[in-house]
Amino acid sequence: MREITSENFTAVQIKQIRKYLKLRIMEDNVTFRGHEQEWNHVYDLMKRSVLQGESHSALLIGPRGSGKTTLVNSVLNHLSKEADITSDAIIVKLNGHMHHDDKVALKSITAQMQLENAVGDRVFGTFAENLAFLLSCLQSGVDRRCKSMLFLLEEFDMFCHSARTQTLLYNLFDITHSRQAPMCVLGITNRLDVMEMLEKRVKSRFSHRHIFIFSDEKTRPHDVFADLLVELLTVPVTKKKGRARKKSNDEPTNTDTGISIPTEVLQRCKVDAQQFAALEPNFVEDWNAHIRALRADEKVLDSLEKLCYYTINEQIFKDILVVGGPPPPTKLTNTELAANAHFSKSKNTEHDCFLP
Ligand SMILES: Nc1ncnc2c1ncn2[C@@H]1O[C@H](COP(=O)(O)OP(=O)(O)O)[C@@H](O)[C@H]1O
Ligand SMILES: [Mg+2]
Repeated sequence: MREITSENFTAVQIKQIRKYLKLRIMEDNVTFRGHEQEWNHVYDLMKRSVLQGESHSALLIGPRGSGKTTLVNSVLNHLSKEADITSDAIIVKLNGHMHHDDKVALKSITAQMQLENAVGDRVFGTFAENLAFLLSCLQSGVDRRCKSMLFLLEEFDMFCHSARTQTLLYNLFDITHSRQAPMCVLGITNRLDVMEMLEKRVKSRFSHRHIFIFSDEKTRPHDVFADLLVELLTVPVTKKKGRARKKSNDEPTNTDTGISIPTEVLQRCKVDAQQFAALEPNFVEDWNAHIRALRADEKVLDSLEKLCYYTINEQIFKDILVVGGPPPPTKLTNTELAANAHFSKSKNTEHDCFLP
């Protein structure tokens, strides 16, 4: 058997920590921080549609990278724990860039509703007839109740582009407006002026419910990044097996191992949480103390401030933490950006071993 030397031990611990951090930074798309009011608003609308069969429409508006998609993922993740979302509802995700015309969109809707066979070779006169047919296929039971539909329209502004008709939006909003079927239509966009792009007939059927996600103007962006640096690079420790230290209310911890990556993310990545149980608490404490010390390091703060001149997009910050990211026009590559220092050593040699 191979002897466990202290060098060996350190290498194994670091490898495990890196694997853990990379998993959390890159794969966790369901943990959402802050914006409780906006989160609750979206959650409330979707929950009422799924559980009570109500019809709603809303727009989620915020700059790119502000966490709109993550918010929706987090809401769906919470909902799936409270309701049997796969049998009580159908989630249809459309993207304005991909579904560039109504025909393509309708094809995708049919596929996501798993009704391709039901439609077969049928020919429909209008878009509305086609959609009505799809909804009628979903009606079941004695009361002919329809399953709830959740329509998530990413890049919503692209659905109201002047080059295309707004038939899809008109029909979806018409259903929510007249409550023909339990449906929640959520448009997601970074365009503040999106309402001006809507046709009059579409606008009049929309609920005018706007949910804005903007960063807190009182907090300086580099302070946000500095806090995030600590949050993303520290590892929760369990002193006693089974006792988890929770990092935030929205972060469901895996109580067996104390790790803060949601179980569904681990499952999706086919990672067994037990492998992180081998992490030595004292080693993790030392690691965390080192990361927390970086929060007060002038050079790190200076680097983060320079980064914020370039971008405040959290995704780019995360990319930098993991792989060094694209070099911005400033001299950022020469800085001692905390995570870079930790990760760059292994960038070329062991990069592939981070994730299974
Ligand atoms: N409030 C937040 N909570 C958690 N992650 C966030 C938050 N805001 C931004 N992010 C992170 O920033 C990145 C971009 O978020 P995303 O939801 O794709 O933004 P958007 O859809 O608004 O363009 C993701 O990695 C996401 O995890
Ligand atoms: Mg998005």
